[in-house]
Amino acid sequence: MARNRIDKEDALDKHLGLLKLVQILSFLVVFVAGIIIGLAASSHMNQYFTSQAKLFFTNNVASAQISPEDGNCTTIPTPCHTLDCLSIDTFARPNNLTHSMTDEELFWRASLLPYKEDYPFHRVPKVAFMFLTRGPLPMLPLWERFFKGHHKYFSIYVHANPDYELNVSTDSPFYGRKIPSLDVEWGTVLLVDAEKRLLANALLDFSNERFVLLSESCIPVYNFPTVYKYLIDSEQSFVESYDEPTRYGRGRYSRKMLPDIQLYQWRKGSQWFEMQRNVAVYIVSDTKYYTIFKKYCKPACYPDEHYIPTFLNMFHGLLTANRTVTWVDWSLGGPHPATYTAVNITESFIRSIRNNGTQCSYNSDTTSVCHLFARKFDPSALEPLLNLTSTVMEF
Ligand SMILES: *[C@@H]1O[C@H](CO)[C@@H](O)[C@H](O)[C@H]1NC(C)=O
Ligand SMILES: *[C@@H]1O[C@H](CO)[C@@H](O)[C@H](O)[C@H]1NC(C)=O
Ligand SMILES: *[C@@H]1O[C@H](CO)[C@@H](O)[C@H](O)[C@H]1NC(C)=O
Ligand SMILES: *[C@@H]1O[C@H](CO)[C@@H](O)[C@H](O)[C@H]1NC(C)=O
Ligand SMILES: *[C@@H]1O[C@H](CO)[C@@H](O)[C@H](O)[C@H]1NC(C)=O
Ligand SMILES: *[C@@H]1O[C@H](CO)[C@@H](O)[C@H](O)[C@H]1NC(C)=O
Ligand SMILES: *[C@@H]1O[C@H](CO)[C@@H](O)[C@H](O)[C@H]1NC(C)=O
Repeated sequence: MARNRIDKEDALDKHLGLLKLVQILSFLVVFVAGIIIGLAASSHMNQYFTSQAKLFFTNNVASAQISPEDGNCTTIPTPCHTLDCLSIDTFARPNNLTHSMTDEELFWRASLLPYKEDYPFHRVPKVAFMFLTRGPLPMLPLWERFFKGHHKYFSIYVHANPDYELNVSTDSPFYGRKIPSLDVEWGTVLLVDAEKRLLANALLDFSNERFVLLSESCIPVYNFPTVYKYLIDSEQSFVESYDEPTRYGRGRYSRKMLPDIQLYQWRKGSQWFEMQRNVAVYIVSDTKYYTIFKKYCKPACYPDEHYIPTFLNMFHGLLTANRTVTWVDWSLGGPHPATYTAVNITESFIRSIRNNGTQCSYNSDTTSVCHLFARKFDPSALEPLLNLTSTVMEF
C-alpha cells in the first residue's frame, strides 16, 4: 500500500516535472521571440505612437477651433492657425480690450498680484492713460502729437457713454482703445465705478505700472519723455488727499459711516489721480469701504472727491504724495473750475502752469515740476495749443 502510494507519487512527480519543463521551454521561446520582435519593431512602434498622439491632439484642437478673425485671444504662428488662449501674451499683455466680463469678474481678475518677483517676459513698464469722457475727445490731435514715437511706453484706455463710438483713424494710438463702458451719472458713485473699470481694464496688462486719470478737457504740459520719467521714477502716487474742516470737506462726512470710518480719517481730493500699480490693485480690490460710500455718500457728498482720498489715508497714506499732478484753476470761486478758451491761450500762461516758482516734494527731494497735465480747456483752445507744442511743451 505504502509502496504503491510512493510509486504513484513518483509517477506524478515525474509528470509534473515534465510539464514544468514544457512550460519553461515555451515561456523561453515566447520570451526570446518577443525580444526579437520587440527589437525589430521598436523604431516603428515609436513612430507609430508619436503620430497617434499627434493625431489625437491635432483632432482635439481642430474640433475646438476658433477662427483667428473672430477670436479674442492672440493668434500663434503655427501651421494650423489655432488660438492659444493660455499664452503668456494673452494673459499678461492682452492687446484687445473687448471682453464680456461683469465688473465683479473684472475687478477680481484685476486684483491678482503676482507672488513671483521676476516676469517671464521682457517687461517695459508702461504708463496707462485713462480717459474718462462722455463722448468726443476734442484734444485728440494734441494727445496724438504727445504720444507720437513712444508707443512702447504707454497704453490708452477710454471710458465713454456705452453708445458712443470712438471714431479715430486706424493709425491713431486711440484706435480700438474704448473699454466696455456703462452709463455714468456725474456726482454719483457710478463715476467711481467708471474709474475702477478703467483701472481694472488697465491692470489686465501687466506692463502697466502707472495709471493716470484724465478727462476730455485735460492737456499735457510737458512732453512724453518728461512725463514718463517723472511718473515711473516716483516712489509715490499722486493722489490728492487733504483734510478740509469746512462744509465742503468734513461737512460731507456722515456719522452713519461709523465705526468703520471716523471723522478724523475723512479726506477730500481731486478726482484726477495718478497712481502706481499696487495702489490701483488696492482700489479695485476694496469692497467694504466702497460699499459704505455707495450707501452714505450722496449729494452734497461726492464719492469721486472723497472715496479714494479717504481710503488711501486710512490704509496706504505713505504711498501717496497727497498732491495731484493735474493743474486746475479754482481762483474764480464757485462749484466749477475755470475753463480756458482760445483767447486765453498764451505762451506765458502755459509756461506758468509748467513752472510758477513753487517747489514740490518729489521722492526725498524737491522739484520745480509740480504739474504734468492741466484742465479745463475748451475745444476752441486746441488750435492755439497745437501752435505752442514745439516752442513751449517741447513735443
Ligand atoms: C469675443 O468677445 C465678444 C465680446 O465679449 C463675444 O461676443 C464673442 O463671441 C467672442 N468671440 C469669441 C470667438 O470668443
Ligand atoms: C468717422 O470719421 C470719418 C472721418 O474722420 C468720417 O468719414 C466717418 O463718417 C465717421 N464715422 C462715424 C460713424 O462717425
Ligand atoms: C477685438 O476683438 C473683437 C471681437 O473679437 C473684434 O471685433 C475687434 O475688431 C478687435 N479689436 C481690435 C482692435 O483688434
Ligand atoms: C500724506 O498723508 C499721509 C497721511 O494721510 C502721511 O502719512 C504722509 O506722510 C503724507 N505724504 C506726504 C508726502 O506728505
Ligand atoms: C479768458 O479771456 C477772457 C477775455 O480776455 C477773460 O474775460 C476770461 O476771464 C479769461 N478766462 C480765464 C479763465 O482766465
Ligand atoms: C503756483 O501754483 C501753486 C499751485 O497751483 C499756487 O498755490 C501758488 O500760489 C502759485 N504761485 C504763484 C507765485 O503764482
Ligand atoms: C499759429 O501760429 C502761426 C505762426 O506762428 C500764426 O500765424 C497763427 O495765427 C497761429 N494760430 C493760432 C490759432 O494761434
